[in-house]
Amino acid sequence: MAALEMHKARKVYGTDDQQVVALNDVDLTVADDEMLILVGPSGSGKTTLLTVAGALLRPTSGSVKVGGTEITDLDDKALARFRRDQVGFVFQSVNLVPFLTARENLLVVRQFGGARVDADAKARADQLLEELGLGDRAGNLPSQLSGGQKQRVAIGRALMNDPSLVLVDEPTSALDSELGQQVMNLLRREIKGRGVAAIIVTHDDRVLEFGDRQVTIVDGVLETSPAGLSA
Ligand SMILES: Nc1ncnc2c1ncn2[C@@H]1O[C@H](COP(=O)(O)OP(=O)(O)OP(=O)(O)O)[C@@H](O)[C@H]1O
Ligand SMILES: [Mg+2]
Repeated sequence: MAALEMHKARKVYGTDDQQVVALNDVDLTVADDEMLILVGPSGSGKTTLLTVAGALLRPTSGSVKVGGTEITDLDDKALARFRRDQVGFVFQSVNLVPFLTARENLLVVRQFGGARVDADAKARADQLLEELGLGDRAGNLPSQLSGGQKQRVAIGRALMNDPSLVLVDEPTSALDSELGQQVMNLLRREIKGRGVAAIIVTHDDRVLEFGDRQVTIVDGVLETSPAGLSA
């Protein structure tokens, strides 16, 4: 089953007199273990595509299926639950909770769901932090971490609930090239190791090699590149 199937997904922002068509009837399928790289100019609709794919925004029209579930059929409450259980986000701005430690930033996504933070959750958080090279930083606040370390905490948080789809917006833009490579290597290892699907938005040419496939979006329209990256 595909991790994501978008069919004629359309997103129009604004009111009648000033409308922006951010997604123009997009068709996109992402296989359940595929790592897709999404590129395109500023304002072309990349972040909008991620937010629609991840059920943060409803499309204006069209169909969006995540793991076979048509998310446009869900009411707000079901949508929030679905998002929490199925989707992991890594935003460009990282968005860690500033007064929680690295470890607590992972555990808090369990609590969002009303689940207890039990020994299993703690073990999982510690294992993820270890895998991400942050075993000795688990007790640090975000302000006590470097940019790359914060980015890695955000990756751990996105994986904490075992999502079927991970959506990543500009993971390396704030990082120098060596750190950017490191973060991408980690991301790929974590995603591939779990057989999870991912869409990664980037402006960064160095990130392209990490994907299985690349698509370009221009003015809300997808242009699939003729050959896969691995070809
Ligand atoms: N909340 C909003 N209200 C109105 N227009 C919006 C809103 N969010 C985005 N847009 C518009 O929709 C279009 C697509 O925006 P989007 O953020 O998806 O682009 P992007 O490809 O992520 O750009 P960037 O590379 O600069 O992050 C742009 O024209 C933008 O101005
Ligand atoms: Mg964007």
